[in-house]
Amino acid sequence: MRKNIVAGNWKMNTTLPEGLKLADEVNAALAAEKHNCDVIICVPFTHLAPVAAVIDQNVLGLGAENCADHTSGAYTGEVSAPMVASTGATYVILGHSERRQYYGETAATLREKVDLALAAGLTPIFCIGEVLAERENGTYNDVVKAQVEDALFHLSAEDFGKLILAYEPVWAIGTGKTATADQAEDMHAHIRGVIAAKYGEQVAQDTSILYGGSCKPSNAAELFAKPDVDGGLIGGASLKCADFMGIVKAF
Ligand code: 13P
Repeated sequence: MRKNIVAGNWKMNTTLPEGLKLADEVNAALAAEKHNCDVIICVPFTHLAPVAAVIDQNVLGLGAENCADHTSGAYTGEVSAPMVASTGATYVILGHSERRQYYGETAATLREKVDLALAAGLTPIFCIGEVLAERENGTYNDVVKAQVEDALFHLSAEDFGKLILAYEPVWAIGTGKTATADQAEDMHAHIRGVIAAKYGEQVAQDTSILYGGSCKPSNAAELFAKPDVDGGLIGGASLKCADFMGIVKAF
């Protein structure tokens, strides 16, 4: 059975003291109230070990926002999957559109990162999604299918089953323009079909597929009510405890 998940992506926000305060608030809010989904925060590298020390990971999961495409060595400024795992974090966002767009990440890079993350015991939260021009010219289903195939279909069924996917239409990220619940559902069902064709219906049914892009307390319930939308990957609204909890409570 797939899980319902709400994951925060803090991106390049918060100083360490601000991040520790936010993580502590979210952890306390989750511990105080019953909730019906797994909750994860993905935070800057600098925050991983200190945040791990203040949260209870039985209550709130912890992840990085990226990792290197090498394990160790002369790669100045990079942080490897085993380093992330050594902080106590257990998740890592990979393939975010901002990494693809601003840092030139390709399917080849992402295959390496996924393999290294899995080898380090991390759960990748793998992002896919089309840009506005692809939505408008009608190629979005093919674009997203190719993103899944090119970066992930070298995996065994067992390894593919360890992934969380996140559909994030680029035109909806940070724009306030959310995909409609029907647009999200159509794409999530499409992605599940692509997975089923390669790995079989059971693997497809067991894969959690999150929606990301201007998800907030006011639209989360409608999105999460769709049968193939298993939660959200939340940017801006994960930076305020009340907003993030408002989304968690949509389940
Ligand atoms: P926003 O929620 O700020 O639109 O960001 C979504 C996102 O990119 C999460 O990874």
